[in-house]
This record gives sequence, structure tokens and C-alpha cells, in this order.
Amino acid sequence: MLKGKHVTLRGLELEDAEEAFEHFNDAEVRRFIGGPRPVSKQEEEEWIRSTWAKRKSGRGHVFGIELNKSQLLIGCCELTDISPIHRGAEMGIVIFNKQYWGQGLGTEALRLLLEYGFKYLNLHRVYLRVNEKNKRAIRSYLKVGFQQVARYRQAEFLDGKYTDVFLMDILAEEFKPT
Ligand SMILES: CC(C)(COP(=O)(O)OP(=O)(O)OC[C@H]1O[C@@H](n2cnc3c(N)ncnc32)[C@H](O)[C@@H]1OP(=O)(O)O)[C@@H](O)C(=O)NCCC(=O)NCCS
Repeated sequence: MLKGKHVTLRGLELEDAEEAFEHFNDAEVRRFIGGPRPVSKQEEEEWIRSTWAKRKSGRGHVFGIELNKSQLLIGCCELTDISPIHRGAEMGIVIFNKQYWGQGLGTEALRLLLEYGFKYLNLHRVYLRVNEKNKRAIRSYLKVGFQQVARYRQAEFLDGKYTDVFLMDILAEEFKPT
């Protein structure tokens, strides 16, 4: 478990499928992460099982994001596609309970995840892809030290239009835990 001031990153349990299911069919939550394709409770459970297999194989580490005050699960985040040679990994995050957006919790979870990746997994570089319209996410990535390194043109079809996607990354030496 990785404990911050307001949130803790922990492994996912099958019982978490209920809370994830509650929020994952919300089109606003899914706007930048796969769109409003419906998800069933069983699919949530299958996904949770897949996170355990991923961790065991060393391909990735997926965490639930839990509020310290109430132990409510509000989201999840991951380091995935870990390269044992290049020491790189892709990062993903969602605060699926949108009541908790814009309170600094996503940024705190990101810092915990990066600290885990750089200090514990000995990663050298973490990268991510984000839609250009996802201003809230871009702002939180910039706050923890990611920089934009490339633009994939017209890479995603969003709200009826092709939109660009940014590639952002951060090196271990650039990360400053606060
Ligand atoms: C992206 C996400 C993880 C960020 O977590 P969060 O807890 O909401 O973010 P934080 O509160 O830590 O930081 C958000 C920052 O964006 C800013 N922000 C919010 N809306 C903004 C906008 N429209 N334009 C610019 N900045 C904006 C906030 O003011 C804050 O910056 P500040 O601390 O300097 O004021 C969360 O919003 C989320 O899960 N969104 C849906 C899923 C998603 O998009 N995941 C990322 C896919 S790449």
C-alpha cells in the first residue's frame, strides 16, 4: 500500500467491481477513456482479475485509489507495458467518482504512482497519451513534471471530430516527490 496525505494506492479486490461499475457507465467519466461503451459488472470483475495476472507476470501494476478518510474507492491508476530492458512504462489514471474531481486527489495519486515506479520498480521513464481536449488531465500531468514530447495528429475521434493526442513523458531524474 502506498499512503499519501489524502489517498492510498492499494491492490484491487473483486468486491471493488461494485463501486467501479457504479461509475464506469457514466459518459462524462468515460469521455476520454474509451467513450460511452457500456460495461457490465462481470466485465469489471474480469478486469480486476486481469490486473492480478498482469502484476504476477511483471507486465504492469494496477492500483485502486482509496480515500484515507472513508476508505471509499474513487478510482484506479496503473503502470503498464513495463519494459525490463529500457526501464520504461506507460501510465494511466481515472478518478471514476467524478464528485472527487478537481480536489488535487488525482495529482496526489499520480505522485504516489510515480514514486513507486521510480523508487521501487527502478523505472527510468514513464510516458502517457492524453487527448488534447483533456485539459484537467494535462494540467495535473504538468504539475507532477510530465512534459509534452510529441503530438499524434487526428489520432482520436471525439465528439464527432478527429482530435490530436499528446505524448507526454517524465524521466526519473526529473521527478520531485513533494
Ligand atoms: C484526469 C484526472 C485523473 C485528474 O484528477 P483530478 O483529481 O481531477 O485533478 P487535480 O484536482 O489533481 O488537478 C486538476 C488540475 O486541472 C485544473 N483544471 C481543471 N479543469 C481545467 C480546465 N478545463 N482547463 C485547465 N485546467 C483545468 C485544475 O484547476 C487543477 O489544477 P490546479 O491544481 O493548478 O488548480 C481526473 O479528472 C479524471 O479521472 N478524469 C477522467 C478520466 C481521465 O480523463 N483520465 C486521464 C486520461 S489520459
